[in-house]
Amino acid sequence: MHKRSEMETCLSCLIVVILSLLSCFANAEFHNYEFIVQEKSVTRLCRTKNIITVNGQFPGPTLTVRNGDTLSITVVNRARYNVTIHWHGIRQMRTPWADGPEYVTQCPIRPGGTYTYRFTIENQEGTLWWHAHSKWLRATVYGALVILPKQDSEFPFSHPKKDIPVILGEWWKRDIIAVQRQAQFTGAAPNISDAYTINGQPGDLYRCSTQGTVKFLVNPGEKVLLRVINAALNQQLFFSVANHMLTVVGIDATYNKPFTTNVIMIGPGQTTNVILTANRSPGRYYMAARAYATVRNGQFDNTTTTAILEYTNLNSGANSRPSLPQLPAFNDTSTATAFVTQLRGIPNNNRVPNQIDESLFFTVGLGLVNCTPGPRCQGPNNTRFAASMNNVSFVLPRRTSLLQAYYQNIPGIYTLDFPPVPPVQFDYTGNVSRGLWQPRFGTKLYKLKFGANVQIVLQDTAIFSTEDHPIHLHGYHFWVVGQGFGNFNAQTDTANFNLVDPPVRNTIDVPVGGWAVIRFVADNPGVWLFHCHIDSHLAWGLSMSFIVENGIGEKQTMEPPPPDLPQC
Ligand code: C2O
Repeated sequence: MHKRSEMETCLSCLIVVILSLLSCFANAEFHNYEFIVQEKSVTRLCRTKNIITVNGQFPGPTLTVRNGDTLSITVVNRARYNVTIHWHGIRQMRTPWADGPEYVTQCPIRPGGTYTYRFTIENQEGTLWWHAHSKWLRATVYGALVILPKQDSEFPFSHPKKDIPVILGEWWKRDIIAVQRQAQFTGAAPNISDAYTINGQPGDLYRCSTQGTVKFLVNPGEKVLLRVINAALNQQLFFSVANHMLTVVGIDATYNKPFTTNVIMIGPGQTTNVILTANRSPGRYYMAARAYATVRNGQFDNTTTTAILEYTNLNSGANSRPSLPQLPAFNDTSTATAFVTQLRGIPNNNRVPNQIDESLFFTVGLGLVNCTPGPRCQGPNNTRFAASMNNVSFVLPRRTSLLQAYYQNIPGIYTLDFPPVPPVQFDYTGNVSRGLWQPRFGTKLYKLKFGANVQIVLQDTAIFSTEDHPIHLHGYHFWVVGQGFGNFNAQTDTANFNLVDPPVRNTIDVPVGGWAVIRFVADNPGVWLFHCHIDSHLAWGLSMSFIVENGIGEKQTMEPPPPDLPQC
């Protein structure tokens, strides 16, 4: 990591010593990191370009901490773009100022600026990740955040011999900001990517990529934990390892009831922990990922990224080409559904709420905005793409962040009229009349009382096309109590909710042409972004924000803003 001046080092050493002494007693550690956001020249697919990185690393540094630890990450922006960093899936209890989405919980860190994110991990274990939450910088600014059990506790499964982050990403030959700007200007869909990557490398199946292909060594017979993270900008992925079964033990930093599968489907933002046992004949096997694509007639990157799983006791001739796993067809929704419906949570004291105080119903989907034919109207039939929840296409403020506006009572930044149900009811997944395709723009928020039991029905729409949307809630995880296809039917579908062992996640892939229902308790005050984790959809407005009011007493009240909070 970055070197500091001697004086600083001395001081921070002293602080670290004192803190680690303290933590001996508290049994929780304090971690200090420095993230220098900087440009770095990288070659992939026979082309060299500058990308934005953290500390010149791509993917960025893996942070390995324990449940209960406190992190302090000082971000220094030496790049030429505004930036913020989001700790995806960290609950940020009472520390919304450290969450990171640009213009939601903070103004961006300007080039030359600095900001320190401080937060404590409370009751979370498993795999999360961090990424830029500013423009499309997260295409290259991301890394794993591994949360181990507390010092004196264990995984709820036998301890794996190796612990390997497997970060799936997406790569463009062109500069990603240029790709975004072009899409923003034309109103059309952005250019599709040129490759997917595993830990930053496309792998053997792409041009000029064999040298860099990632290799994981395993000893025969040992169990390894693969922490699979979908950091791709715009694409759900299938992931599989040739000739090996995967036992799913965790999702989004929560444990699930283990089950075995040969393929997983993972949406952008989600993580899946799987255990692989190296019990096949000594050899080399590909792990591979490629798209699960659900848009009708939509373009997508249909390439396959690979890494190699290599046994250490290879015999001669084992250098032959590894075998490829059979991945499902791109549009194989039944395999995706079979996978996600096997996920079951581990029932614990945090019981899923039975009584609902706030019953919300949000449509999620695309839209088209009519405009005057020209260079800025290159979407389908002279339109511009948009996306919305309940027909509101979310617009971020520029003058200040939503959280600052809320905390300091600054008027005129947002309104509190986000509709709890669709303003017009229609056959959401049927043939939607063209009159309903154009959303309204606004910075509309929805206020929740502290402690409220919230249920949200997320309903995909067929506007432009049905599509699977990975919806992510900041500051929370939630129970997924039901999902299905077609239009949600309160009478018949509610009866089938799983209130016994629903999976717990922070990002839910709403089935294509279907619905998902989530529940959570509004126990974390702040302003929290709720959005589609496909960056092109986010840019088109597929988001909204919740305000969760303070409760009573210190434990239910958000902390004041840190003094170094960037201003707009
Ligand atoms: Cu991982 Cu708002 O994002």
